[in-house]
Amino acid sequence: MQPFRFHNPTVLYYGRDQIEQHLAEEVTKYGTRVLLVYGGGSIKRNGLYDKVTGILRGAGVTWWELAGVEPNPRLTTVQKGIDLCRAHDIQLILAVGGGSVLDCGKAIAMGAVFDGNVWDIYLKKAKPTGALPLGTILTLAATGSEMNAGGVITNWETKEKIGASSPYTFPKFSFCDPVNTFTVPRDQTVYGVCDMLAHCFEHYFHAKTHAPLQVRLIESVMQTILEYAPKALERPDDYDARETLMYCSTMALNGMISMGIQGDWACHAIEHEISAIYDIPHGGGLAIVFPNWMDYVVDTDPSRFARLATEVFRIDPQGRSDRDLAQAAIARVRAFFRSIGAPQRLADYGIGEENLERMAAQAVRFGPIGRFRRLEKDDVLAILRRCL
Ligand code: NZQ
Ligand code: ZN
Repeated sequence: MQPFRFHNPTVLYYGRDQIEQHLAEEVTKYGTRVLLVYGGGSIKRNGLYDKVTGILRGAGVTWWELAGVEPNPRLTTVQKGIDLCRAHDIQLILAVGGGSVLDCGKAIAMGAVFDGNVWDIYLKKAKPTGALPLGTILTLAATGSEMNAGGVITNWETKEKIGASSPYTFPKFSFCDPVNTFTVPRDQTVYGVCDMLAHCFEHYFHAKTHAPLQVRLIESVMQTILEYAPKALERPDDYDARETLMYCSTMALNGMISMGIQGDWACHAIEHEISAIYDIPHGGGLAIVFPNWMDYVVDTDPSRFARLATEVFRIDPQGRSDRDLAQAAIARVRAFFRSIGAPQRLADYGIGEENLERMAAQAVRFGPIGRFRRLEKDDVLAILRRCL
């Protein structure tokens, strides 16, 4: 294992009725002046907005609202939130939504106390100096943002999408009630599944180190996702399926299964460049990039892919080489994405060759990417070409 320090301070409330029982108590620990951050209206349509504001009102909390956070949240929206925090002396940010809303909340939290342009933190030109407290209510199982410190913001003017992470941006508390994901539409459920599975892949293809338990934990999460995704897609109000996917997505990116390993993360870097320019859903982009990355890097260590074949896809290894099993595993990854209706090619989003060079250059803006296999710009370009 690599040496590591682990500290995840987020208080997690999982399951039914936790919001009713504990939201007021958690919010008022931080004050009575709240910025409520949410997206394009799903929480108004499914009743969550009324529930949350009713609880805030009952607790004597005054709140201001930042509505309309975009999927792939934008810097301009973050700036509006920062202005609201400063104008109204906000004491807690409460983000209610999917990963985009939560990530926007994290950026606002850092920006509100930062003396400078918050984008400089994402560009790695400046370090965050603190953050307002952030609480979250998650409505979509995908990113793990509810229990990690990361957040990804898009600067639409410069067509850049960049992540940042700091110890200040762990949510103080997160409420995860699977019922709040019943209304997630089919396509977003698919993207969420692709994203949580991709987080597992990023850990699975880590820089080589001795980490047998981590590998088995990751395999368990992957198997569970593969088993429960079709159930949630079949019946969107299947509580057990939604709950299981929600827990898988939290576990896939809260640090619990990846202590002591350094994940690859090249596919995420590449996907972020695609959504930076074309504003496509993150999970959809990953479903396209990952199998093509796998084809490109498989010979780096076929045994890792062979293990994916035997341990996750339960392919009989009898008489088959690692290379052969590796190919079978990649075929199964593709087949799974196809079976749930995930996109297969950039062309599915109407994306052609026009910006591949630019995306490849931007993906390596901070240096080569990938720890299972280091990728330079030309490697990224080759992978993107395979995605066409
Ligand atoms: O905006 P509303 O109206 O709420 O609708 C959203 C949005 O249109 C809808 N939705 C969410 N919950 C719903 C619902 N619709 C009906 N019922 C519900 N319960 O779903 C759409 C997509 O939401 P979004 O928040 O964009 O999805 P997701 O959770 O997949 O977040 C994606 C963003 O997170 C970033 C991605 O890059 C992308 O910007 N990521 C964040 C990470 C992190 N913080 O750790 C890691 C990830 O790898 C990822 O990069
Ligand atoms: Zn992701």
